[in-house]
Amino acid sequence: MSTQKAPSPPTSNPRLVAWVDEIARLCRPENIHWCDGSQEEYDRLCQEMVQSGTFIALNPEKRPGSFLCLSDPDDVARVEDRTFVCTRTREDAGPNNNWVDPDEMKATLTGLFDGCMRGRTMYVIPFSMGPLGSRIAQIGIEITDSPYVVTNMRIMTRMGQAVLDVLSDSENFVPCLHSVGAPLGPDQTDVPWPCNKDNKYIVHFPEERSIWSFGSGYGGNALLGKKCLALRIASHMARQEGWMAEHMLILGVEAPDGEKTYVAAAFPSACGKTNFAMMIPPEGFEGWKIWTVGDDIAWIKPGEDQRFYAINPEAGFFGVAPGTSDSSNPNAMASIRQNSIFTNVALTPDGDVWWEGMTEEEPERLIDWRGQDWTPGCGRPAAHPNARFTAPIAQCPTIDAEWDNPQGVPIQAFIFGGRISQDMPLVFQAFNWTHGVYLAATMGSEKTAAAAGKVGGVRRDPMAMLPFCGYHMGDYFDHWLDMGRVHPEPPRIFRVNWFLKKDGKFLWPGFGENMRILKWVLDRVHGRAHAVESPIGWMPCRRDLDWTGLDFSQEQFDELMTVDREAWKTESLAHEEMFLQLLERLPQEFFLERQMLLTRLVRSAPKWLPPHP
Ligand code: GTP
Ligand code: SPV
Ligand code: MN
Repeated sequence: MSTQKAPSPPTSNPRLVAWVDEIARLCRPENIHWCDGSQEEYDRLCQEMVQSGTFIALNPEKRPGSFLCLSDPDDVARVEDRTFVCTRTREDAGPNNNWVDPDEMKATLTGLFDGCMRGRTMYVIPFSMGPLGSRIAQIGIEITDSPYVVTNMRIMTRMGQAVLDVLSDSENFVPCLHSVGAPLGPDQTDVPWPCNKDNKYIVHFPEERSIWSFGSGYGGNALLGKKCLALRIASHMARQEGWMAEHMLILGVEAPDGEKTYVAAAFPSACGKTNFAMMIPPEGFEGWKIWTVGDDIAWIKPGEDQRFYAINPEAGFFGVAPGTSDSSNPNAMASIRQNSIFTNVALTPDGDVWWEGMTEEEPERLIDWRGQDWTPGCGRPAAHPNARFTAPIAQCPTIDAEWDNPQGVPIQAFIFGGRISQDMPLVFQAFNWTHGVYLAATMGSEKTAAAAGKVGGVRRDPMAMLPFCGYHMGDYFDHWLDMGRVHPEPPRIFRVNWFLKKDGKFLWPGFGENMRILKWVLDRVHGRAHAVESPIGWMPCRRDLDWTGLDFSQEQFDELMTVDREAWKTESLAHEEMFLQLLERLPQEFFLERQMLLTRLVRSAPKWLPPHP
């Protein structure tokens, strides 16, 4: 471990040494520290942050080895309007990304980074996204002036000296430069959460595979292995190299007879990936087990046997805290029992954490996420709606035995689901790969708090990748189609929606009951479940689902499965609207799929329902 002005690097990698040197000269930090990834290093950084007021150590009896961090109130979520994909041409970035000419952006950033680490330590973080040495994994090096980022990266990735050993002298790593953008003057005292209020830039250069992030310390803005590398840069790599980088959870389902099936599922931010990935099968499903491989990102590469193998590039959870409880997600609650970092949740008088939905009864007193006294009914939320926990994935009770397998796990189904309160049925299956890609691409979702300043209203969120696709969305659709053109047996594709509402109440109980839907998906994958052809896809009749242990009437089921003709015609207009935006790169197949959807609809009943047996 070495924190000094210019320590000798623990690597002789020429590209890496030269880059770190160049960045040090640009950013002019007080010290440079190469992270070794050890527990001692982590503990020391946490202690330093407790001393500086960035971290609050939680009660070691209630929450051992854990810390609370309250961010600046203006730095609480990803900043999509400050996120850029700077390809050589504007067209390659597509209308789905903010774009600036790469040379112009480099000039702007070089100005901002000039001297931006004055008075701070510059940390060099070697990290691997995915099991070290896996053919699907990638190595990144993050340079940051935030110890909060270092500690989070140690949980979220495989980090430290072992990565440098695997990298050796290879040039094959993604340089990720991050600064909170708050240099410290000689007599200036630091604030608990330094950031830059005026200038935030989250910038990707896909062609040279590099990332520059300035001004924010939060989540996907700052933990650059996650959305920046593992989705935006990786999606670009994946298209060039014939694989997929997706905003998907990965889970394994074990049937009572031991059959194991892996599926990957894409839901937009804050729409239930973490919950689904750790689901506890409901009453009536004794002997069934859900095993967790990942809750946010999947990297998927076809193997020599043509199957689609997936790894979770991450090693931790950066999960939404509000709504997480012993009843909604006991496995997440167990995962965060110790060794976790909590950001923007509330502090209890006995030194533990709390957030909305954690317990039925609200505590009598709290310190809220802004550091102020909080009492029930005071009119302010105790935790920020995008408050998060950072926890090692290995602490999850349902962690899959194969989660760290460098080969990955074979995926047999892709499930897509947004948050839609009206007219989007509970579950249906695509007719074929092309139709499935269409269903995934036209997915919409009501906005959540995971991105700054955007709540309410439906937005199209193709494959849950709208904020994360590092190139033109039309090209991305074509890449998806290509995966099915090249490979004869891609995973089967399904759409789900847990979020239908009537009179403000959810119609589907959700959470563990989602197992019933998942079981039908598996049975379809294995060719043993019945389905009927609806105007929008294959659908189960009520008797095709396993209702053991749940009282759910035909009437309730019908409400969830109705295909409303007029609503779907309107829905298809929204598809068209998105297509027009992507027109110059949109695959022809999509126009044909839309046309076929309409022809099926015009001849269907006004309120189409799966037949009653
Ligand atoms: P990111 O980490 O932002 O990518 O999101 P995520 O998809 O992992 O989100 P997460 O699982 O944390 O979503 C949490 C929100 O979804 C909470 O508000 C949950 O209450 C809600 N949720 C999860 N599962 C269900 C479900 O089955 N039914 C309903 N109605 N809500 C659910
Ligand atoms: C998301 O917003 O989809 C997240 C959280 O997973 S963050 O890492 O902040 O992007
Ligand atoms: Mn996410």
